[in-house]
Amino acid sequence: MGRPRIYASATERQRAHRHRQRAAGLQVPCVQIGDRVTLYQGDALQIAPALQGIQAVIADPPYGVSFNFMRYRRSRHPLQAGIPAARWAANVIGDEQPFDPTPWLAYPQVILWGANHYTSRLPERKAWLVWDKRDGSTPDNHADCELAWTNLPGNARIYRHLWRGMIRAGEANVGRRGKWHPAEKPVELMQWCVAKTTGTVLDPYMGSGTTGVACLALGRRFIGIEIDPDHFATACQRLQDAALQGHLFPEARPATQARLL
Ligand SMILES: C[S@@+](CC[C@H](N)C(=O)[O-])C[C@H]1O[C@@H](n2cnc3c(N)ncnc32)[C@H](O)[C@@H]1O
Repeated sequence: MGRPRIYASATERQRAHRHRQRAAGLQVPCVQIGDRVTLYQGDALQIAPALQGIQAVIADPPYGVSFNFMRYRRSRHPLQAGIPAARWAANVIGDEQPFDPTPWLAYPQVILWGANHYTSRLPERKAWLVWDKRDGSTPDNHADCELAWTNLPGNARIYRHLWRGMIRAGEANVGRRGKWHPAEKPVELMQWCVAKTTGTVLDPYMGSGTTGVACLALGRRFIGIEIDPDHFATACQRLQDAALQGHLFPEARPATQARLL
């Protein structure tokens, strides 16, 4: 018998129950971490339409550029301790085809990274977000910045955070040898994004769960979807650790395979 689940309120218990029911209907693995984080493993295009109560979509989707992460891998031990290097063997799923943002544009608040790769499929907006990842250091062959499209009001904004191969700013990255995901974003950058929105956040392409870690830090509710089982496992581990370390949640349960009722 598992540990009894403790929820902050009856509403939270009902919400967790509804997530399990939906995952069962979809026949996808669903992991609940505390009462604020729900993770689904599967195709976002199938799972997201069954979800309710989402106010913000914050995503870093595959851009359709077929980027070869192996080519730029410098370290023989690129990932965090305990995560097999074999996870870098494959490129990001979906990166070989053009990205279609249409399913995400109807949500009330949307932030989509890599949007300069699919501008022709996006509505015109003025408030683009810019991540200056060079932050004053010498230019190289890689892009100086990354761009996010958003439907949020306001002006274009810049966030500066150094992120070049092994040189990565941020307290959590000091002494860190590898990355959780080949296309990982800094938690600080995603916190900047999450803080611009309100309500429950969905990241339909969560990778290693960086947006979820940012949501936990800000006390926000998070739903993540990831198609790759290895990256999904990484996200579960990362978010359980983040939740437990922060003492933010009374419990963190292991992954369970949901079935049709
Ligand atoms: C650019 S990565 C996101 C990395 C993330 N920002 C991080 O910090 O770890 C995009 C992720 O989307 C996942 N993905 C691709 N197609 C998907 C789909 N249809 N549904 C869910 N996830 C998908 C890939 O497996 C990949 O992990």
